[in-house]
Amino acid sequence: MFDASLWAANPVQFTLAPDEIHVWRANLDCEPASLRALETTLAPGEQARADRFRFPQDRNAFIATRGILRELLGKYVSRAPAELLFDYGDRGKPSLHASSDQSIQFNVSRSHDLALLAFAAKRSVGIDVELVRPDFAGIEIAQRYFSPQEIEELKSLPPQSLAEGFFLCWTRKEAYVKARGEGMQIPLNSFRVSLTPGQPARLESTDSARWCLHIVTPDPRYVGALVAEGKAARIRYWNWNAMDPAAKNQSQSP
Ligand SMILES: CC(C)(COP(=O)(O)OP(=O)(O)OC[C@H]1O[C@@H](n2cnc3c(N)ncnc32)[C@H](O)[C@@H]1OP(=O)(O)O)[C@@H](O)C(=O)NCCC(=O)NCCS
Repeated sequence: MFDASLWAANPVQFTLAPDEIHVWRANLDCEPASLRALETTLAPGEQARADRFRFPQDRNAFIATRGILRELLGKYVSRAPAELLFDYGDRGKPSLHASSDQSIQFNVSRSHDLALLAFAAKRSVGIDVELVRPDFAGIEIAQRYFSPQEIEELKSLPPQSLAEGFFLCWTRKEAYVKARGEGMQIPLNSFRVSLTPGQPARLESTDSARWCLHIVTPDPRYVGALVAEGKAARIRYWNWNAMDPAAKNQSQSP
């Protein structure tokens, strides 16, 4: 369930305790001036990727998300956003380049005009967010991606909960796959997550002892999930938009 108070503008802090995960929520519908400022921090390869998007809204969402990632990551590792270099895993998961502070791990997700960015110290994270769209959620699509038990659980939901249950399942599966960084190498029906709205989030996989799964609800219209390596984490939530200019300009030392 969405709890606006969790996302209240708390004093921003760019230090990550070992048991903490920081989750940032960003509205991607930026003012043109903000978008231009974020764009100036992108590397040439990222700029080229932005230019390959066919639709301006997709291009802008990519630029905003990557620019916000650079801005926040820069604060965590005390570097200017444009200086950051990324490495990419075999399946495309970005991480900080070997020359940077690799103890900071991160993952991002965007859906329509909202992005979630997760940061942790020394543990892999995967995050996923989706706008709940009843027109997309259906048993036929579930049959292509979900495990038999998930399909049964979905079918047991009342019609008014079907779309939410579908996207809870989708985001939990994606967050797990993204935490592992292996993309679609992992058959999506080879593990199981819970999906009933209002019930605790559970992950059942061959390696589930290695991971914790958290519910992240950034907005009443969206659902999200965070999977992190290790024991359940203390999650702290911040709004990128609400970050006050003084905090943005504060010294980059954590
Ligand atoms: C990355 C992936 C795992 C998810 O992508 P997605 O849900 O479309 O997009 P999201 O916005 O949530 O995440 C994209 C971000 O994840 C990160 N990412 C890219 N590859 C990744 C990987 N292998 N592992 C973890 N994170 C990855 C990047 O930061 C990327 O941002 P960018 O596009 O700005 O570079 C992708 O492999 C994918 O296409 N998944 C298939 C979708 C599907 O069939 N899902 C069924 C769910 S039941």
